[in-house]
Amino acid sequence: MYEKMRESAAFLSRAFGGRIPSVALVLGSGLGPLADELKDPVTVPFGEVPYFCRSTAPDHAGRLVLGELSGKTVLCMQGRLHGYEGYTPAEVSYPIPVFKLLGVKTVILTNAAGGINLDFSAGDFMVIDDHINFTGKSPLTGPNDDRVGPRFNDMCHVSPKDLCVLADQAAKNCGLSLRHGVYVGVNGPQYETAAEIRMFRTMGGDAVGMSTVFESIAAAHCGLPVLAVSMITNMAAGVTGNALSDEEVKEMAAKGGERFQTLMREIVALL
Ligand code: HPA
Repeated sequence: MYEKMRESAAFLSRAFGGRIPSVALVLGSGLGPLADELKDPVTVPFGEVPYFCRSTAPDHAGRLVLGELSGKTVLCMQGRLHGYEGYTPAEVSYPIPVFKLLGVKTVILTNAAGGINLDFSAGDFMVIDDHINFTGKSPLTGPNDDRVGPRFNDMCHVSPKDLCVLADQAAKNCGLSLRHGVYVGVNGPQYETAAEIRMFRTMGGDAVGMSTVFESIAAAHCGLPVLAVSMITNMAAGVTGNALSDEEVKEMAAKGGERFQTLMREIVALL
């Protein structure tokens, strides 16, 4: 596995002309347009990178864009892979250790999520202080390669406190408010039942979504610090009594996209 990762990283390093990204930004549903803002961009479709899988999710462009944002060299993943597409957890998280080999120092994971916490509203942003992996799966299942990370890795310090504080400072600088909470990662693709959401609330969950936990686990494994931010695109099942739909999620992601990009620009500036 490590050899494959090195091959992927070497390919990307050549494609990027030796430019080294310090930040990797994984852009979730509806949040992809941020990559279009990068200066001096170099774009590589996932399908061209050795051992990367193509994204099949609607509205996920499925490409890597390297460029300059807020004075830093940033590598954006425009679109990501999900377990519900049929990819294994290891396939979903494969790019993360490759980013580490490329020289990335911080990973920012973003996603659209449903609000479980009744104090939240659609349109809020939430820093993921911690997560509950409710998929029942791990990207680290199978033989371990110690060159990537240890067999048993700590998960208490995936999102270092200083990055969560930095996100608060960034939000303050641009006049945005920021929630903090626990993200529950589920497989999907179906949205949750109202009973599942009540259970997640009892368990301590604040938001729910179908991504991010595998990438966080892979980042913890290879020792890459993570800052993860959710956009609450809808209140979760059973909260308002309305049926959930992909249209609602997309509409809110588009509506909040501008504010989200402002926040991301400022976060990258402060890193
Ligand atoms: N549930 C799961 N995933 C989601 C949701 C939700 O309510 N909203 C956006 N992604």
